[in-house]
Amino acid sequence: MAEISIERLQVEHVATLQQRYEQAVTQAGYDALLISSGAAPLRYGDDHSYVFQGYGPFVHWTGLPELEHSWLLIRPGHRPVLWVYTPEDFWHATPALPQAPWTDLLDVQGMRSRSVPDLSDCGRVAVLGDPACLVGVAADPNPAALLGGVEAARVHKTPYELHCLEVASARAARGHQAAAHTFLAGGSEFDISLAYQQATAQRAAEAPYHSIIGLNEHAGILHYQYYASERPPEGRSLLIDAGYRYRGYGSDITRTYAAPGQDLFQALIDGLEAIQRRVCAAVAPGVDFVALHDTTHRALATLLRALGLVTGLTEEAIVTRGITRVFFPHGLGHLLGVQVHDVAGKPRKAPDHAPFLRLTRPLETGMVVTIEPGVYFIPSLLEPLLAGALGKHINRPMLDELRPCGGIRIEDNLVVTAAGSDNLTRRYLS
Ligand code: GLY
Ligand code: MN
Ligand code: MN
Repeated sequence: MAEISIERLQVEHVATLQQRYEQAVTQAGYDALLISSGAAPLRYGDDHSYVFQGYGPFVHWTGLPELEHSWLLIRPGHRPVLWVYTPEDFWHATPALPQAPWTDLLDVQGMRSRSVPDLSDCGRVAVLGDPACLVGVAADPNPAALLGGVEAARVHKTPYELHCLEVASARAARGHQAAAHTFLAGGSEFDISLAYQQATAQRAAEAPYHSIIGLNEHAGILHYQYYASERPPEGRSLLIDAGYRYRGYGSDITRTYAAPGQDLFQALIDGLEAIQRRVCAAVAPGVDFVALHDTTHRALATLLRALGLVTGLTEEAIVTRGITRVFFPHGLGHLLGVQVHDVAGKPRKAPDHAPFLRLTRPLETGMVVTIEPGVYFIPSLLEPLLAGALGKHINRPMLDELRPCGGIRIEDNLVVTAAGSDNLTRRYLS
Protein backbone atom coordinates (compact mmCIF):
# COMPACT_ATOMS: atom_id res chain seq x y z
CA MET A 1 0.00 0.00 0.00
CA ALA A 2 1.66 3.20 -1.18
CA GLU A 3 0.44 5.78 1.33
CA ILE A 4 2.03 8.60 -0.68
CA SER A 5 -0.33 8.25 -3.64
CA ILE A 6 -3.58 8.41 -1.73
CA GLU A 7 -4.23 12.12 -2.32
CA ARG A 8 -3.77 11.64 -6.06
CA LEU A 9 -6.04 8.60 -6.01
CA GLN A 10 -8.69 10.60 -4.19
CA VAL A 11 -8.56 13.39 -6.77
CA GLU A 12 -9.06 10.80 -9.52
CA HIS A 13 -11.88 9.22 -7.52
CA VAL A 14 -13.75 12.52 -7.18
CA ALA A 15 -13.24 13.26 -10.88
CA THR A 16 -14.67 9.82 -11.72
CA LEU A 17 -17.64 10.39 -9.44
CA GLN A 18 -18.30 13.69 -11.12
CA GLN A 19 -18.60 11.91 -14.47
CA ARG A 20 -20.70 9.06 -13.09
CA TYR A 21 -23.09 11.25 -11.13
CA GLU A 22 -23.47 13.83 -13.89
CA GLN A 23 -24.41 11.02 -16.26
CA ALA A 24 -26.96 9.69 -13.76
CA VAL A 25 -28.45 13.18 -13.33
CA THR A 26 -28.75 13.75 -17.07
CA GLN A 27 -30.15 10.30 -17.76
CA ALA A 28 -32.84 10.79 -15.13
CA GLY A 29 -33.86 14.09 -16.79
CA TYR A 30 -32.60 16.50 -14.12
CA ASP A 31 -30.41 19.60 -14.29
CA ALA A 32 -28.95 19.21 -10.82
CA LEU A 33 -28.68 16.87 -7.87
CA LEU A 34 -28.49 17.95 -4.24
CA ILE A 35 -27.28 15.37 -1.73
CA SER A 36 -27.90 15.70 2.00
CA SER A 37 -25.30 14.46 4.47
CA GLY A 38 -28.10 13.61 6.89
CA ALA A 39 -28.20 14.44 10.60
CA ALA A 40 -28.77 12.44 13.76
CA PRO A 41 -32.26 12.90 15.21
CA LEU A 42 -32.67 13.65 18.89
CA ARG A 43 -33.93 10.72 20.94
CA TYR A 44 -37.60 11.18 21.70
CA GLY A 45 -38.17 13.29 24.80
CA ASP A 46 -34.44 13.78 25.24
CA ASP A 47 -31.76 16.28 24.28
CA HIS A 48 -29.27 13.64 23.14
CA SER A 49 -29.05 12.30 19.62
CA TYR A 50 -28.39 8.88 18.12
CA VAL A 51 -24.89 8.00 16.97
CA PHE A 52 -24.51 9.50 13.51
CA GLN A 53 -23.02 8.11 10.32
CA GLY A 54 -23.55 10.05 7.12
CA TYR A 55 -25.68 9.18 4.11
CA GLY A 56 -23.95 6.88 1.58
CA PRO A 57 -23.74 9.11 -1.53
CA PHE A 58 -22.44 12.03 0.55
CA VAL A 59 -19.75 9.83 2.10
CA HIS A 60 -18.96 8.39 -1.35
CA TRP A 61 -17.87 11.88 -2.43
CA THR A 62 -16.38 13.31 0.72
CA GLY A 63 -15.20 10.34 2.79
CA LEU A 64 -16.48 12.31 5.79
CA PRO A 65 -19.16 10.26 7.57
CA GLU A 66 -19.24 12.61 10.57
CA LEU A 67 -20.53 15.73 8.75
CA GLU A 68 -24.15 16.59 9.58
CA HIS A 69 -26.54 19.18 8.10
CA SER A 70 -24.24 19.55 5.10
CA TRP A 71 -24.97 19.44 1.36
CA LEU A 72 -23.38 18.62 -1.95
CA LEU A 73 -24.70 20.04 -5.25
CA ILE A 74 -23.83 18.38 -8.55
CA ARG A 75 -24.71 20.13 -11.83
CA PRO A 76 -23.52 18.85 -15.17
CA GLY A 77 -21.11 21.43 -16.62
CA HIS A 78 -20.50 23.17 -13.24
CA ARG A 79 -18.11 22.66 -10.36
CA PRO A 80 -19.77 20.74 -7.56
CA VAL A 81 -20.49 22.80 -4.43
CA LEU A 82 -19.99 21.42 -0.93
CA TRP A 83 -21.63 23.25 1.96
CA VAL A 84 -20.25 22.13 5.30
CA TYR A 85 -22.22 22.96 8.44
CA THR A 86 -19.72 24.64 10.78
CA PRO A 87 -21.80 26.27 13.51
CA GLU A 88 -20.60 28.41 16.41
CA ASP A 89 -21.09 25.88 19.20
CA PHE A 90 -19.31 26.04 22.55
CA TRP A 91 -20.79 22.69 23.64
CA HIS A 92 -19.27 20.60 20.89
CA ALA A 93 -16.26 20.38 18.62
CA THR A 94 -17.25 21.65 15.20
CA PRO A 95 -15.91 20.36 11.90
CA ALA A 96 -13.21 22.20 10.03
CA LEU A 97 -13.63 22.74 6.32
CA PRO A 98 -11.91 19.85 4.53
CA GLN A 99 -8.59 20.88 3.01
CA ALA A 100 -6.99 18.37 0.71
CA PRO A 101 -6.21 18.21 -3.00
CA TRP A 102 -9.63 16.72 -3.83
CA THR A 103 -11.38 19.83 -2.51
CA ASP A 104 -9.77 21.81 -5.35
CA LEU A 105 -12.29 20.13 -7.65
CA LEU A 106 -15.21 21.62 -5.69
CA ASP A 107 -16.33 24.93 -4.26
CA VAL A 108 -16.27 24.33 -0.51
CA GLN A 109 -18.21 26.71 1.69
CA GLY A 110 -18.91 26.85 5.41
CA MET A 111 -22.46 27.32 6.66
CA ARG A 112 -23.07 28.79 10.12
CA SER A 113 -26.74 27.91 10.29
CA ARG A 114 -28.77 24.88 9.32
CA SER A 115 -30.08 26.10 6.03
CA VAL A 116 -30.99 24.72 2.65
CA PRO A 117 -28.92 25.84 -0.35
CA ASP A 118 -30.57 28.26 -2.73
CA LEU A 119 -31.52 26.22 -5.81
CA SER A 120 -33.44 28.91 -7.65
CA ASP A 121 -31.02 29.04 -10.63
CA CYS A 122 -30.50 25.30 -10.93
CA GLY A 123 -33.43 24.28 -13.12
CA ARG A 124 -35.00 20.90 -12.41
CA VAL A 125 -33.39 19.60 -9.23
CA ALA A 126 -33.57 16.26 -7.44
CA VAL A 127 -32.52 15.85 -3.83
CA LEU A 128 -31.34 12.62 -2.22
CA GLY A 129 -31.21 11.94 1.49
CA ASP A 130 -33.06 11.08 4.64
CA PRO A 131 -36.57 12.55 4.13
CA ALA A 132 -36.41 14.03 7.64
CA CYS A 133 -33.60 16.32 6.40
CA LEU A 134 -35.31 17.37 3.15
CA VAL A 135 -38.12 19.47 4.56
CA GLY A 136 -38.23 22.82 2.76
CA VAL A 137 -35.95 21.75 -0.10
CA ALA A 138 -37.37 22.89 -3.45
CA ALA A 139 -36.50 19.72 -5.36
CA ASP A 140 -37.88 16.26 -6.17
CA PRO A 141 -37.12 14.07 -3.16
CA ASN A 142 -35.45 10.71 -3.77
CA PRO A 143 -36.73 10.00 -7.30
CA ALA A 144 -36.33 6.27 -7.99
CA ALA A 145 -34.75 6.63 -11.44
CA LEU A 146 -31.97 8.89 -10.20
CA LEU A 147 -31.46 6.92 -7.00
CA GLY A 148 -30.91 3.81 -9.14
CA GLY A 149 -28.29 5.60 -11.23
CA VAL A 150 -26.49 6.96 -8.17
CA GLU A 151 -26.46 3.54 -6.50
CA ALA A 152 -25.11 1.97 -9.70
CA ALA A 153 -22.25 4.50 -9.50
CA ARG A 154 -21.12 2.83 -6.26
CA VAL A 155 -20.87 -0.76 -7.51
CA HIS A 156 -17.49 -0.67 -9.29
CA LYS A 157 -14.91 0.66 -6.92
CA THR A 158 -12.31 3.19 -8.03
CA PRO A 159 -8.61 2.58 -7.26
CA TYR A 160 -8.98 5.03 -4.36
CA GLU A 161 -11.84 3.02 -2.89
CA LEU A 162 -9.91 -0.22 -3.26
CA HIS A 163 -7.01 1.38 -1.43
CA CYS A 164 -9.30 2.55 1.40
CA LEU A 165 -10.91 -0.86 1.69
CA GLU A 166 -7.51 -2.51 1.88
CA VAL A 167 -6.40 -0.15 4.66
CA ALA A 168 -9.70 -0.90 6.43
CA SER A 169 -8.90 -4.63 6.27
CA ALA A 170 -5.31 -4.13 7.38
CA ARG A 171 -6.27 -2.05 10.44
CA ALA A 172 -9.09 -4.42 11.42
CA ALA A 173 -6.63 -7.33 11.23
CA ARG A 174 -4.68 -5.77 14.12
CA GLY A 175 -7.86 -5.70 16.17
CA HIS A 176 -8.68 -9.31 15.35
CA GLN A 177 -5.21 -10.43 16.42
CA ALA A 178 -5.59 -8.57 19.72
CA ALA A 179 -9.07 -10.06 20.20
CA ALA A 180 -7.80 -13.62 19.71
CA HIS A 181 -5.01 -13.00 22.17
CA THR A 182 -7.40 -11.57 24.78
CA PHE A 183 -9.79 -14.51 24.35
CA LEU A 184 -7.01 -17.06 24.86
CA ALA A 185 -5.77 -15.06 27.87
CA GLY A 186 -9.17 -15.41 29.55
CA GLY A 187 -10.80 -12.07 28.74
CA SER A 188 -14.53 -11.33 28.78
CA GLU A 189 -16.51 -10.05 25.79
CA PHE A 190 -16.05 -6.55 27.18
CA ASP A 191 -12.29 -7.05 27.58
CA ILE A 192 -12.12 -8.29 23.99
CA SER A 193 -14.03 -5.25 22.74
CA LEU A 194 -11.58 -2.96 24.57
CA ALA A 195 -8.60 -4.86 23.15
CA TYR A 196 -10.09 -4.55 19.67
CA GLN A 197 -10.66 -0.80 20.01
CA GLN A 198 -7.20 -0.26 21.45
CA ALA A 199 -5.47 -2.23 18.69
CA THR A 200 -7.41 -0.48 15.94
CA ALA A 201 -7.32 2.95 17.65
CA GLN A 202 -10.95 3.44 16.67
CA ARG A 203 -13.90 4.19 18.94
CA ALA A 204 -16.88 1.89 18.74
CA ALA A 205 -18.96 4.84 17.47
CA GLU A 206 -16.67 5.32 14.48
CA ALA A 207 -16.55 1.65 13.48
CA PRO A 208 -18.46 0.66 10.34
CA TYR A 209 -20.93 -1.37 12.44
CA HIS A 210 -21.38 -2.51 15.99
CA SER A 211 -18.69 -5.15 16.54
CA ILE A 212 -20.15 -8.58 17.27
CA ILE A 213 -18.16 -10.26 20.04
CA GLY A 214 -19.76 -13.41 21.39
CA LEU A 215 -18.38 -16.09 23.69
CA ASN A 216 -19.89 -19.59 23.83
CA GLU A 217 -23.64 -19.63 23.03
CA HIS A 218 -23.47 -15.92 22.14
CA ALA A 219 -21.44 -16.92 19.07
CA GLY A 220 -24.67 -18.40 17.71
CA ILE A 221 -26.59 -15.09 17.85
CA LEU A 222 -25.99 -13.72 14.37
CA HIS A 223 -25.92 -10.04 15.34
CA TYR A 224 -25.25 -10.37 19.09
CA GLN A 225 -25.20 -6.82 20.40
CA TYR A 226 -23.98 -6.89 24.04
CA TYR A 227 -20.63 -7.31 25.76
CA ALA A 228 -20.77 -9.30 28.98
CA SER A 229 -18.23 -7.89 31.40
CA GLU A 230 -17.77 -11.23 33.18
CA ARG A 231 -15.93 -14.10 31.50
CA PRO A 232 -18.09 -17.24 31.78
CA PRO A 233 -16.55 -19.99 33.95
CA GLU A 234 -15.60 -21.93 30.83
CA GLY A 235 -14.65 -19.91 27.75
CA ARG A 236 -15.18 -22.41 24.94
CA SER A 237 -15.41 -20.28 21.81
CA LEU A 238 -15.21 -16.75 20.46
CA LEU A 239 -16.88 -15.34 17.36
CA ILE A 240 -15.76 -11.81 16.51
CA ASP A 241 -17.25 -9.93 13.55
CA ALA A 242 -15.64 -6.49 13.51
CA GLY A 243 -14.32 -3.96 11.01
CA TYR A 244 -12.54 -0.64 10.74
CA ARG A 245 -13.70 2.48 8.99
CA TYR A 246 -11.09 4.32 6.93
CA ARG A 247 -12.04 7.53 5.10
CA GLY A 248 -15.63 6.32 5.13
CA TYR A 249 -14.90 2.77 3.87
CA GLY A 250 -15.52 -0.18 6.14
CA SER A 251 -14.06 -3.64 6.41
CA ASP A 252 -16.31 -6.47 7.61
CA ILE A 253 -14.30 -9.39 8.96
CA THR A 254 -15.21 -12.41 11.09
CA ARG A 255 -13.07 -15.00 12.80
CA THR A 256 -14.05 -17.80 15.16
CA TYR A 257 -11.78 -19.43 17.73
CA ALA A 258 -12.04 -22.58 19.83
CA ALA A 259 -10.47 -22.76 23.28
CA PRO A 260 -7.87 -25.51 23.79
CA GLY A 261 -9.64 -28.84 24.32
CA GLN A 262 -12.66 -28.04 22.13
CA ASP A 263 -11.51 -30.52 19.53
CA LEU A 264 -14.83 -31.23 17.83
CA PHE A 265 -15.63 -27.53 17.49
CA GLN A 266 -12.11 -26.92 16.20
CA ALA A 267 -12.64 -29.65 13.58
CA LEU A 268 -15.81 -27.89 12.47
CA ILE A 269 -13.95 -24.56 12.28
CA ASP A 270 -11.25 -26.24 10.18
CA GLY A 271 -13.85 -27.73 7.86
CA LEU A 272 -15.66 -24.42 7.42
CA GLU A 273 -12.37 -22.64 6.88
CA ALA A 274 -11.54 -25.03 4.04
CA ILE A 275 -14.95 -24.34 2.49
CA GLN A 276 -14.53 -20.59 2.90
CA ARG A 277 -11.14 -20.67 1.18
CA ARG A 278 -12.53 -22.74 -1.69
CA VAL A 279 -15.46 -20.36 -2.15
CA CYS A 280 -13.07 -17.39 -2.09
CA ALA A 281 -10.99 -19.11 -4.78
CA ALA A 282 -14.11 -19.38 -6.94
CA VAL A 283 -14.79 -15.62 -6.88
CA ALA A 284 -14.31 -14.21 -10.40
CA PRO A 285 -16.09 -12.01 -12.93
CA GLY A 286 -19.18 -13.67 -14.35
CA VAL A 287 -19.77 -15.92 -11.33
CA ASP A 288 -23.40 -15.84 -10.27
CA PHE A 289 -23.48 -15.09 -6.55
CA VAL A 290 -26.69 -17.03 -5.98
CA ALA A 291 -25.01 -20.08 -7.54
CA LEU A 292 -21.98 -19.54 -5.29
CA HIS A 293 -24.28 -19.40 -2.28
CA ASP A 294 -25.85 -22.70 -3.39
CA THR A 295 -22.41 -24.27 -3.92
CA THR A 296 -21.53 -23.30 -0.36
CA HIS A 297 -24.61 -25.11 0.94
CA ARG A 298 -23.59 -28.27 -0.89
CA ALA A 299 -20.08 -28.05 0.55
CA LEU A 300 -21.55 -27.55 4.00
CA ALA A 301 -23.73 -30.65 3.55
CA THR A 302 -20.60 -32.64 2.68
CA LEU A 303 -18.89 -31.34 5.82
CA LEU A 304 -21.84 -32.10 8.12
CA ARG A 305 -22.00 -35.63 6.73
CA ALA A 306 -18.25 -36.19 6.91
CA LEU A 307 -18.17 -35.13 10.56
CA GLY A 308 -21.16 -37.37 11.30
CA LEU A 309 -23.38 -34.56 12.54
CA VAL A 310 -25.97 -35.41 9.87
CA THR A 311 -26.42 -39.08 9.01
CA GLY A 312 -28.46 -41.27 6.65
CA LEU A 313 -29.05 -38.64 3.95
CA THR A 314 -27.28 -37.76 0.73
CA GLU A 315 -25.61 -34.36 0.40
CA GLU A 316 -28.32 -33.35 -2.00
CA ALA A 317 -31.08 -34.30 0.44
CA ILE A 318 -29.32 -32.45 3.27
CA VAL A 319 -29.57 -29.28 1.16
CA THR A 320 -32.94 -29.73 -0.53
CA ARG A 321 -34.67 -30.77 2.70
CA GLY A 322 -33.50 -27.55 4.33
CA ILE A 323 -31.03 -28.94 6.87
CA THR A 324 -28.10 -26.77 5.80
CA ARG A 325 -30.35 -23.70 6.11
CA VAL A 326 -30.94 -24.53 9.76
CA PHE A 327 -27.20 -24.41 10.36
CA PHE A 328 -26.41 -21.60 7.87
CA PRO A 329 -29.45 -19.34 7.67
CA HIS A 330 -27.91 -16.13 6.32
CA GLY A 331 -26.52 -15.23 2.91
CA LEU A 332 -23.02 -15.98 1.65
CA GLY A 333 -22.07 -12.31 1.43
CA HIS A 334 -22.78 -8.83 0.14
CA LEU A 335 -21.26 -5.82 -1.56
CA LEU A 336 -19.01 -3.68 0.63
CA GLY A 337 -18.14 0.02 0.47
CA VAL A 338 -19.12 3.15 2.40
CA GLN A 339 -21.96 1.04 3.73
CA VAL A 340 -21.25 -2.39 5.14
CA HIS A 341 -24.19 -3.84 3.26
CA ASP A 342 -23.51 -1.71 0.23
CA VAL A 343 -26.24 -0.72 -2.20
CA ALA A 344 -27.26 -2.17 -5.56
CA GLY A 345 -26.62 -5.81 -4.70
CA LYS A 346 -30.16 -6.94 -5.40
CA PRO A 347 -31.48 -5.87 -8.77
CA ARG A 348 -33.48 -9.09 -8.51
CA LYS A 349 -35.12 -10.39 -5.39
CA ALA A 350 -33.38 -13.15 -3.46
CA PRO A 351 -34.70 -16.60 -4.32
CA ASP A 352 -37.14 -18.26 -1.91
CA HIS A 353 -34.53 -20.74 -0.75
CA ALA A 354 -32.09 -17.92 0.16
CA PRO A 355 -34.30 -15.11 1.45
CA PHE A 356 -31.53 -13.30 3.34
CA LEU A 357 -29.04 -13.19 0.49
CA ARG A 358 -28.04 -9.55 -0.08
CA LEU A 359 -26.28 -10.05 -3.43
CA THR A 360 -28.12 -11.66 -6.33
CA ARG A 361 -26.15 -10.47 -9.32
CA PRO A 362 -23.23 -11.91 -11.25
CA LEU A 363 -19.86 -10.69 -10.04
CA GLU A 364 -18.08 -8.01 -12.04
CA THR A 365 -14.56 -6.66 -11.99
CA GLY A 366 -14.26 -3.84 -9.47
CA MET A 367 -16.91 -5.09 -7.07
CA VAL A 368 -15.88 -5.71 -3.47
CA VAL A 369 -17.73 -8.52 -1.73
CA THR A 370 -17.69 -10.42 1.52
CA ILE A 371 -17.51 -14.21 1.62
CA GLU A 372 -18.87 -15.31 4.97
CA PRO A 373 -20.17 -18.85 5.34
CA GLY A 374 -21.30 -19.92 8.81
CA VAL A 375 -22.45 -22.88 10.89
CA TYR A 376 -24.52 -22.09 13.98
CA PHE A 377 -26.48 -23.88 16.67
CA ILE A 378 -29.49 -21.59 16.96
CA PRO A 379 -32.12 -22.99 19.32
CA SER A 380 -35.14 -21.48 17.52
CA LEU A 381 -34.05 -23.06 14.22
CA LEU A 382 -32.80 -26.37 15.65
CA GLU A 383 -35.81 -27.26 17.77
CA PRO A 384 -38.28 -27.64 14.86
CA LEU A 385 -35.68 -29.71 12.97
CA LEU A 386 -35.08 -32.00 15.91
CA ALA A 387 -38.80 -32.40 16.60
CA GLY A 388 -39.71 -33.14 12.97
CA ALA A 389 -39.29 -36.06 10.57
CA LEU A 390 -35.65 -35.14 9.87
CA GLY A 391 -34.69 -35.14 13.54
CA LYS A 392 -33.55 -38.77 13.39
CA HIS A 393 -30.79 -37.73 10.97
CA ILE A 394 -29.13 -35.45 13.48
CA ASN A 395 -26.46 -36.92 15.71
CA ARG A 396 -27.74 -35.69 19.11
CA PRO A 397 -24.68 -36.43 21.26
CA MET A 398 -22.50 -34.61 18.75
CA LEU A 399 -24.93 -31.71 18.54
CA ASP A 400 -25.07 -31.51 22.34
CA GLU A 401 -21.30 -31.25 22.44
CA LEU A 402 -21.26 -28.47 19.83
CA ARG A 403 -24.19 -26.37 20.98
CA PRO A 404 -22.41 -24.71 23.91
CA CYS A 405 -19.90 -23.28 21.41
CA GLY A 406 -22.62 -21.26 19.67
CA GLY A 407 -21.46 -21.07 16.09
CA ILE A 408 -18.84 -20.23 13.51
CA ARG A 409 -18.53 -17.54 10.85
CA ILE A 410 -15.45 -16.87 8.74
CA GLU A 411 -15.60 -13.68 6.69
CA ASP A 412 -13.15 -12.05 4.31
CA ASN A 413 -13.37 -9.03 1.98
CA LEU A 414 -12.47 -9.64 -1.67
CA VAL A 415 -12.02 -7.47 -4.73
CA VAL A 416 -13.28 -9.05 -7.94
CA THR A 417 -10.46 -8.67 -10.48
CA ALA A 418 -10.08 -9.59 -14.14
CA ALA A 419 -7.94 -12.55 -13.05
CA GLY A 420 -10.36 -13.73 -10.34
CA SER A 421 -10.12 -12.01 -6.99
CA ASP A 422 -7.86 -10.33 -4.53
CA ASN A 423 -8.49 -11.20 -0.88
CA LEU A 424 -7.90 -7.96 1.03
CA THR A 425 -8.29 -9.66 4.39
CA ARG A 426 -6.04 -12.74 4.12
CA ARG A 427 -3.14 -10.51 3.24
CA TYR A 428 -3.20 -9.28 6.85
CA LEU A 429 -5.00 -11.97 8.84
CA SER A 430 -4.82 -15.76 8.66
N1 GLY B 1 -21.20 -7.64 10.07
C1 GLY B 1 -22.42 -7.90 9.40
C2 GLY B 1 -22.24 -8.80 8.26
O1 GLY B 1 -21.33 -9.60 8.25
O2 GLY B 1 -22.92 -8.74 7.28
MN1 MN C 1 -19.58 -9.31 9.30
MN1 MN D 1 -20.74 -9.23 6.16
